[in-house]
Amino acid sequence: MEGSDSEESFASLEEPLDPTLENVLDQTALKWIFVGGKGGVGKTTTSCCLAILLASVREKVLLISTDPAHNLSDAFQQKFSGEPEQVNGFDNLYAMEVDASGNSSLGGPTSGGDPLGMGESLDFLNDMASSIPGIDEAMSFGEVMKEVEQMDYSVVVFDTAPTGHTLRLLQLPQVFDKALDKFAGANGILGNLMGPLSMFMGGGGDQQDGLLAKVEELRRMVHRVKEQFSDPDLTTFVCVCIPEFLSLYETERLIQDLAEYEIDSHNIVINQVLFGEHCCQSTCLLHARVKMQEKYISQYEDLYEDFHLVKTPLLAEEVRGIEKLKAFAKNLTKPYRPS
Ligand SMILES: Nc1ncnc2c1ncn2[C@@H]1O[C@H](COP(=O)(O)OP(=O)(O)O)[C@@H](O)[C@H]1O
Ligand SMILES: [Mg+2]
Repeated sequence: MEGSDSEESFASLEEPLDPTLENVLDQTALKWIFVGGKGGVGKTTTSCCLAILLASVREKVLLISTDPAHNLSDAFQQKFSGEPEQVNGFDNLYAMEVDASGNSSLGGPTSGGDPLGMGESLDFLNDMASSIPGIDEAMSFGEVMKEVEQMDYSVVVFDTAPTGHTLRLLQLPQVFDKALDKFAGANGILGNLMGPLSMFMGGGGDQQDGLLAKVEELRRMVHRVKEQFSDPDLTTFVCVCIPEFLSLYETERLIQDLAEYEIDSHNIVINQVLFGEHCCQSTCLLHARVKMQEKYISQYEDLYEDFHLVKTPLLAEEVRGIEKLKAFAKNLTKPYRPS
């Protein structure tokens, strides 16, 4: 990058990055791929298409919806559940819809109102832990990650909930860590309470040790999750948006927050783009929309020079069913050209 080549290097640096998601397919060490953005912009469509493409280059792919308003089943026109199920027509593509809000059975004994998995014996401590904001979600998410880690998927695509919700989910390792420090750290509530309390309950040191071990196990899990998420070789976040002001605004917020949480992101899919090929006259509604979109697309291009900006066309019909998803997926590897 220095000396006599520098002019050439600079020239190549100025060229826009490849406007496709090929780079994600090429990054074979990637393990966690988040797909997120505002509601209704095409997160599910993009994550299904990306998962289909990954299934042709990676050994075994899992697509997980963490959006409470699941629509994987709708996109694939196949019913999915809280357990991974093979997607019809694929040997190595699986999908599941989980509830990461803390109310799911997937969270097992550590979800919902029993975050420490201590059963009824320590109800009051569980109640206390449950009252820490976000802890239920953290537990459920950690639990999902733990289960997924035990399975042999080479890569997992998360079809996430609209922006705010997802960011909270990604922030949870930190929230959880802070809560645990308060709760179980050297001068935490747990340490101060457990001595006199276990004597009172006649549980002795065993119960205290059991609880502390459980808390420690959760802390380790949260750290593992955080470590993996902040490693750009393992994790990346694909932002999906549309060429409109609100979506541009949310994308900018999302990208800043991702940087703050140290989560890699270098791909933006601009969906529902009107390429103007069907436009008939300068007074028609379509023409006005094309002009409006062009304005926002050029703003995306100015703001995100160092991102792969992938433009996908607005189709006349919804993208539902495997054949339509497969056809739409081509737009993620080859720039769409109006015919
Ligand atoms: N480029 C597109 N052209 C036509 N319909 C689309 C396009 N992208 C998404 N859709 C449709 O719009 C609806 C919302 O898309 P979806 O991917 O479910 O959004 P999200 O997951 O962000 O809420 C779905 O019915 C989908 O089939
Ligand atoms: Mg969706």
